Amino acid sequence: MFYNPGMAWDRDLGVAFVRAWAPGGAHDRTGWDVTAATGVRGLRLFGETAAFSAFTLTESNERAFTVLAANAARTPGTRAIRADAREPPPPGSFEYVDLDPYGSPLPFLDGALRATATGGVLAVTATDLPVLAGAQAAATLRRYGARPVRGRLGPEGGLRILLMRLALDARRAGRSVRPLLAYVRGHYVRVYVLLEAGGDRPDPVGTIEDGAWTGPPLGPEPRYGPLWLGPLADPAVVARMEPAEPAGRGAEVAGFLGRYREELEVPAPFYYEPNSLAARLGLRQPPSVERLREALAANGFRAARTHVRSEGLRTDAPRSDVDRIARALAGERQSQNARVRA
Ligand SMILES: C[S@@+](CC[C@H](N)C(=O)[O-])C[C@H]1O[C@@H](n2cnc3c(N)ncnc32)[C@H](O)[C@@H]1O
Repeated sequence: MFYNPGMAWDRDLGVAFVRAWAPGGAHDRTGWDVTAATGVRGLRLFGETAAFSAFTLTESNERAFTVLAANAARTPGTRAIRADAREPPPPGSFEYVDLDPYGSPLPFLDGALRATATGGVLAVTATDLPVLAGAQAAATLRRYGARPVRGRLGPEGGLRILLMRLALDARRAGRSVRPLLAYVRGHYVRVYVLLEAGGDRPDPVGTIEDGAWTGPPLGPEPRYGPLWLGPLADPAVVARMEPAEPAGRGAEVAGFLGRYREELEVPAPFYYEPNSLAARLGLRQPPSVERLREALAANGFRAARTHVRSEGLRTDAPRSDVDRIARALAGERQSQNARVRA
């Protein structure tokens, strides 16, 4: 299948991102869609934003390339090249590179990074979540060089492993990355990072050691990562993002952006879920997310829902405070129930 309608939402978000990253109508950037299939992602970015003067699209599969070449021929300013994207990239560098392969982006990452201009953006999708989110932990270590987080927090762990990989690879080439937008969605994760000069700037990359970690419990392992532990996005770019109009899926994009913007106010890695919190603390009933958020705020902590899970709550409160506050809420509820029975 060369056109995946299930990813239309994701392409809408991509259009909204590029419009926000490159506001105004300069049409002065170059772009490369590395694994283009029929070209729908790159061609939409070219046609629906005012960012690009030229766009290159590469694809190795013959059948997909035939459709891609016809689509590009109808779109002046774009060119289709039949190429294996694991080989050296097309000559020159691009201000925007989009890598959206099937499965792992790793075979293409080196070329995509090299082809992205300093000051430009590299967008990467990874659908190898079983590896990134820990279902195949040995493969995560072998391929990405990280100990993964398994279970409910695994997808966010995978997102942070991908960002770590990009940061370390960029650093080796004397550059650094800054995430402008990074998210988990269904079976994949996707990041948009700005490539900046200077590989000597310390990256927020590190391992999480169980004994020293005061965030949400990650599991039974003594160590996780290395992971990207910094912010997942640039709030200024995300604030400028507007749902792309012609797509007709604006409400879904707007819903995502609403929650994502709130979440950026609490850039703590990982989140709590009422069910697992109640199970760990032995509470008879999980607290409601909203009550927990309010109680954390009343105790002087920041807390916000996350886009990753509908019931997830990110907070800057240390775990001991989260536990204390959740227990107090459960106690309140029990005494309320007792009063109702009395
Ligand atoms: C997930 S699809 C791209 C989807 C596209 N971005 C979209 O939104 O419709 C991945 C594409 O990568 C192509 N591909 C796989 N290996 C490749 C390689 N080594 N070089 C270039 N393209 C490759 C596949 O043929 C497939 O068309």
